[in-house]
Amino acid sequence: MTTPSATIEPRHFRDVMGHLPTSVVVVAGREAGTGRPAGLVVGTFQSLSLDPPLVTFSVANTSSSWPRIRPTGHFSASVLAAGQHDVCRTLAGKHDNKFAALDWHESTHSCPQITGAHAWIDCRTAQELEGGDHVIVIAEVQRLQAGTGDPLIFHRGRLGGYRDLQL
Ligand SMILES: Cc1cc2nc3c(=O)[nH]c(=O)nc-3n(C[C@H](O)[C@H](O)[C@H](O)COP(=O)(O)O)c2cc1C
Repeated sequence: MTTPSATIEPRHFRDVMGHLPTSVVVVAGREAGTGRPAGLVVGTFQSLSLDPPLVTFSVANTSSSWPRIRPTGHFSASVLAAGQHDVCRTLAGKHDNKFAALDWHESTHSCPQITGAHAWIDCRTAQELEGGDHVIVIAEVQRLQAGTGDPLIFHRGRLGGYRDLQL
C-alpha cells in the first residue's frame, strides 16, 4: 500500500521503519569547556566510506548532548553488546550526568568508551549536513577496535541479542 508523503503520520513512519533492525551505539565525548562526559544512544550509526575511512550517524535537533560534544570535534562510538540494555536505557534518557553510574574508560582523546562494548570507534567530526529534523554527522575514523560477544540489537521497539529480543 502506498501513502502520499504529506499524509504519513510520524507514528506510522516510526512503526514501519522500526522493522529495520539496527545496532545500538553510544556516541560520547567531552563537554566543551567543562570536560564533563556527555553522550547519547543512536541507532543510525554506520560505515560510509572505506578510503578515506568515514562513518555517519544522524542526531535529532532536539539532542542536548550532541551540542555539548560538537565543539570539541571528537567523539568515541561504543557499539553496545548483548546484555547492555541498562547502558542503552541510561544513555537514551535525558539525565544530567548519565555517566555517573556507568562502567566506562577513556579513549586516546579522553572521550568516554563503554567498558564491555562489542566494538569501539574513535572519530573526528568532519562534516554535518541538514537532514529534516536531524543532522547527518560524517566523521573520520582515527582508531577502532573490536571487542567480544554479540551485539545489542534494536528491532520494533525491543532490545536484545539475536535470540532474546525483549522489551
Ligand atoms: C535504540 C535507540 C536508537 C536511537 N537512535 C537515535 C538516533 O539515531 N539519533 C538520535 O538523535 N536519537 C536516537 N535515539 C534517541 C536518543 O538516544 C534520545 O533522544 C536521548 O534522550 C538523547 O539524549 P540527549 O538529549 O542527551 O542528546 C535512539 C534511542 C534508542 C533507544
